[in-house]
Amino acid sequence: MRKDKESLFEGSEELNKLINALHAKSWVAILGPRMAGKTSLAWAGANAFAEKMKYKVIFVDLKNTETSRQATKKILGRLPKSILDTLPKYIAEISFSTGDI
Ligand SMILES: Nc1ncnc2c1ncn2[C@@H]1O[C@H](COP(=O)(O)OP(=O)(O)OP(=O)(O)O)[C@@H](O)[C@H]1O
Ligand SMILES: [Mg+2]
Repeated sequence: MRKDKESLFEGSEELNKLINALHAKSWVAILGPRMAGKTSLAWAGANAFAEKMKYKVIFVDLKNTETSRQATKKILGRLPKSILDTLPKYIAEISFSTGDI
């Protein structure tokens, strides 16, 4: 979705609700009929939130994904190398903390 499409939602209740939910660290599901503008709204919200927080937006299409393994592969496949490089550090911390329990 092109960036100029964001202005279609500017100031709308849906966009404000979405941005507030992202700030609250909530998971958000955007539901609606085909071609209703769900993906456009998701992009507009994600871009506005990312701009404010200095985050990057990563789009992962999980259509036709059946297992969590497939989903993980797709998600990892979309991450930039700079983030992949920091993952071993987090994984090391996870195994350390479970070892503690
Ligand atoms: N707020 C809006 N005003 C006008 N047109 C819009 C708006 N939002 C989206 N559109 C247009 O409507 C079409 C469908 O938008 P989009 O792909 O976001 O919908 P969708 O709900 O994700 O569709 P699908 O169900 O196929 O995934 C696109 O051509 C898009 O440019
Ligand atoms: Mg869509």
